[in-house]
Amino acid sequence: METAGKLLLAVCLCVILCSGTAIKFEEQFNVVWSSLNNILSYETSKEVELSLTKTGGANIQSSCFYLYGSFSVKLKLIHGESAGTVTALYLTSFGDNHDEIDFEFLGNETGEPYTLHTNLFVNGIGGREQRIKLWFDPTIDFHTYTIIWNHYQILWLVDYIPIRFYRNLEHVYPGAYPHTRPMVVSASLFDGSGWATQDGRKPVRWEYAPFVIKFKNFAFDACAVLPDGSTPCNNNYRAHWWEGLYYQMLDEGRRDQLMWVVSKWKIYDYCYDNKRYPLAPKEPLECQYNVPWVWE
Ligand SMILES: *[C@@H]1O[C@H](CO)[C@@H](O)[C@H](O)[C@H]1NC(C)=O
Repeated sequence: METAGKLLLAVCLCVILCSGTAIKFEEQFNVVWSSLNNILSYETSKEVELSLTKTGGANIQSSCFYLYGSFSVKLKLIHGESAGTVTALYLTSFGDNHDEIDFEFLGNETGEPYTLHTNLFVNGIGGREQRIKLWFDPTIDFHTYTIIWNHYQILWLVDYIPIRFYRNLEHVYPGAYPHTRPMVVSASLFDGSGWATQDGRKPVRWEYAPFVIKFKNFAFDACAVLPDGSTPCNNNYRAHWWEGLYYQMLDEGRRDQLMWVVSKWKIYDYCYDNKRYPLAPKEPLECQYNVPWVWE
């Protein structure tokens, strides 16, 4: 086949496989690691269960790589005892100086609330943790968790409510925004006994295993990157909905929502951690810009 034809075929396959929400789990994801039967997928309900037992947890990742887009999924966390467990939903690139955008759900003792931890790695550098409590019990029903990553900002949303944003300040501080490395979408469930719950004081209680989480309706509306590294949608990126004005900034309504989350539900923010960053919140430099009341 001539090159143009090949490229066209690759583009078509990519468009079908990488953006579809209607495709099969096995086409959309690869299993990275899992103990026997720790991943179950149900085609009819589009549900995927990951479980954690004493022999191990599970990790899946999208078969496609993406550069910018909207990544959304419904998730129901472990009901009852979940201390020491970590459920992660994240975008990540590979190799040295990797980029990563994270949601991590830290389990807790029966009756105690989950913590939602978010972080961002750029060029291999993380240390941008924030933590919130959720305003609902995430173990009873499915809730929607979304990462929007565009040329202007990264938005973390819970049930479409922004809980955090991180602006693209490449023009001010080069090297602080993920903008060159394609990422996969990954989900995992693992044992974080040493650190996850109450600073590691509450390890996993295996007598309650298996611990099970359920995902459904993975929806990636995103720019897939072809195996040769090119992407069909870089030139005209402004045409995509996730790059639109509504996602370039926060309007007043969503700024109010974010203020509500920050004032009522936030329990940790690296931008105010003077032990780690003596000049906080002036440094790290991005901190001055990623607060809802500052918008140039
Ligand atoms: C677990 O519950 C305790 C007590 O309510 C709380 O202090 C803590 O932040 C919760 N989350 C984690 C991950 O430890």
